[in-house]
Amino acid sequence: MFARSAARALVTPSTRHFSSSSARHTKVAVLGAGGGIGQPLSLLLKSNPLVSSLNLYDIRGAPGVAADVSHVDTPSEVKGYEADKLDEALDGVEVVVIPAGVPRKPGMTRDDLFNTNASIVRDLATAVGRVSPKAHILVISNPVNSTVPIVAATLEKLGVFDPAHVFGVTTLDVVRAARFTAGIAGVKPSDTVITVVGGHSGPTIVPLLSQSTYGKAIKGEVYEKLVHRIQFGGDEVVKAKDGAGSATLSMAYAGAKFTDALLRALSGEKGVVTPTFVKSPLFESEGIDFFSSNVELGTNGVEKIRPIGPLSSEEEKLLAACLPDLKKNIEKGKAFVA
Ligand code: NAD
Ligand code: LMR
Repeated sequence: MFARSAARALVTPSTRHFSSSSARHTKVAVLGAGGGIGQPLSLLLKSNPLVSSLNLYDIRGAPGVAADVSHVDTPSEVKGYEADKLDEALDGVEVVVIPAGVPRKPGMTRDDLFNTNASIVRDLATAVGRVSPKAHILVISNPVNSTVPIVAATLEKLGVFDPAHVFGVTTLDVVRAARFTAGIAGVKPSDTVITVVGGHSGPTIVPLLSQSTYGKAIKGEVYEKLVHRIQFGGDEVVKAKDGAGSATLSMAYAGAKFTDALLRALSGEKGVVTPTFVKSPLFESEGIDFFSSNVELGTNGVEKIRPIGPLSSEEEKLLAACLPDLKKNIEKGKAFVA
């Protein structure tokens, strides 16, 4: 599906200055490819024509996933790498997607994953910094509000941090916001694209419904319930899976969608804009130096961080509730590396 949309994007009037034959093809690695997200994400990336090779790494199961995915009839080469082959998996890659780590069980917050996932993400980032220091790193592992600062601080320690190259994948919040809003408005999700800013956990997820034609028409109790559902959509899936993990399939879709956006931008497509959690100046004066907002992507990753735009009075309150939590999550990540 991304294959088709990517191909379509290559011939839109705004991008007719290059064609699919001149598009840059990119070497991609997935770290945690054997997991609930990693497997379907690897499949979706295999179907993306902008991917030239796909290196699948996990501490267990990656060669099997690679053998399976490699039979899909698209041009990219797929290779699987076992636990002791991380450096080989990263050799020459330009984009690294990280869904490695443990998921939540009912009753847990994303922050409860910190003790396990912080060291997993730090160690993977250390390897990327050593082997492929110029790679773009897309962090899915939770808690994203802390794991992205961990990746940045780890690369900083190695002297190779490029703020244009490190992204927290918050696309699932954007996907949920569009789907849930469309359900209420009775229109297609493509008509209810909602900018979601802040971070990726409960109150740090701030949907800007007032900036959407259909979103701003939703008021009162329906609005309150919609915001709650967007902020706590992850809990809905964790509860329904009843101990078997958290969102994997919708996350693989969202991860592939964000990766596709970055690949299109790296390949020269103009006007690729999407929310993502990056090193950001927007709230630096309040001591918050990572924030998700609309970001223009370009041939070097982050090209321009857009301001969050006008907010309704409800959104001002949501933002006020987001910032203190976000600040704590970011500081916790940085302290872990320091
Ligand atoms: P999972 O347990 O099904 O898969 C995780 C995979 O990571 C496993 O295959 C495991 O072997 C692997 N792994 C563990 N340590 C590793 C290491 N050091 N190197 C490489 N691989 C390693 O979990 P999942 O459901 O795929 O979720 C993965 C992570 O993604 C969780 O932290 C979850 O909370 C997070 N998540 C984030 C979002 C988001 O919106 N950003 C959405 C859903 C899930
Ligand atoms: C989500 O939003 O679905 C993920 O962050 C997974 C989770 O723990 O809820």
